[in-house]
Amino acid sequence: MPKNKTLKHDTLLSICENLATAVILLDEQLIVVYANDSASELFALGHKRFLGQEFESLFNYHNIDIKRIISHTLNEGSDCHQHRADAVFLDSRHAKITLSSRKITIESNPYIMLECRALDEEIKHDKASHQMHQYIAARTLIRGLAHEIKNPLGGIRGAAQLLQYEVDQQERDECATLIIEQADRLTELVDRLLGPNQLPNKTWCNIHQTLESVVKLTMLSNHSQINVIKDYDPSIPDIFIDQGKIQQVVLNIVRNAQQALTEGGEITLQTRIRHHMRIHNKAMKNALMIKVSDNGPGIDKAIRDTLFYPMVTNKDGGSGLGLAIAQTLIDQHDGYIECESWPGHTEFNIYLPFVNQQ
Ligand SMILES: Nc1ncnc2c1ncn2[C@@H]1O[C@H](COP(=O)(O)OP(=O)(O)O)[C@@H](O)[C@H]1O
Ligand SMILES: [Mg+2]
Repeated sequence: MPKNKTLKHDTLLSICENLATAVILLDEQLIVVYANDSASELFALGHKRFLGQEFESLFNYHNIDIKRIISHTLNEGSDCHQHRADAVFLDSRHAKITLSSRKITIESNPYIMLECRALDEEIKHDKASHQMHQYIAARTLIRGLAHEIKNPLGGIRGAAQLLQYEVDQQERDECATLIIEQADRLTELVDRLLGPNQLPNKTWCNIHQTLESVVKLTMLSNHSQINVIKDYDPSIPDIFIDQGKIQQVVLNIVRNAQQALTEGGEITLQTRIRHHMRIHNKAMKNALMIKVSDNGPGIDKAIRDTLFYPMVTNKDGGSGLGLAIAQTLIDQHDGYIECESWPGHTEFNIYLPFVNQQ
């Protein structure tokens, strides 16, 4: 093996071309002067379209801290890293990417060399287990809280019922009725906090029928100009689910999208089959994916990480229970629900495994 210095220029170029990492070279004006094959693939841009482009024009959206990259690499000459940046490419694909950048000097001109790696699979796995932990923690908290409230409530109701036996005392009766009403109201609230406690009643269903009912219900309250786009895969076979519960999940997600689209927009319902997925660390041969996406403002940054927690809401009078209940219901189906959002786009993906009836 020859030492580096004896390698020919063409050989070095060929090594660079074949790197699995996407490499992009930018000049001081952030114009692309070189991109290797992996970069072409990641950005879905041919070499010709890459060269001479401004860095910004390679994306529909990104939150890469380019100012920091410039100050670290060009000005200070040190390396710079950014983990898990969001990138939406020109063909609307979204990816989480990790970037490393450093300054290199070629023929006494400084350049920024960017190495980018898409992290989607790794991140999805991390996100799934993090989300599951959050969910379990929240559920434990709510269960404990609910029991604490429910016990004394039983006492209040019992006492009030005794009061009612005190005949001819109209005032006492009225008072007792009031206590009962209030106690019942509180119990109802606690039951709502506890979430669905009935086991799902599963039957074989056509998922598109379920989605059609959601669309119908949505159209009934379509006050702003919202287009619902259906992108179904008609070859999807029947699936063994509790139709009412899955409908409730999708309806809540669509309603949320509708509420987010205050100035109109589009909601897309998509169905696909996904092969060889991992759901809660179990391999699934085939899973149904239901994607609900909208082109609204995106999920408020402040609640993005706790979206599926009960009582997380940014709406006046919102219960914040919709997504928490959705997660419980999807969990009862051994499925998985996730959310991706950036300004101008929000999507909820529901994965339900195809399983046999027993
Ligand atoms: N499509 C969406 N676009 C923007 N924000 C959303 C979207 N879906 C959900 N959210 C946010 O998630 C929060 C929680 O939703 P949810 O659990 O259904 O409770 P609620 O609808 O009662 O607020 C909402 O308050 C909203 O801020
Ligand atoms: Mg809701």
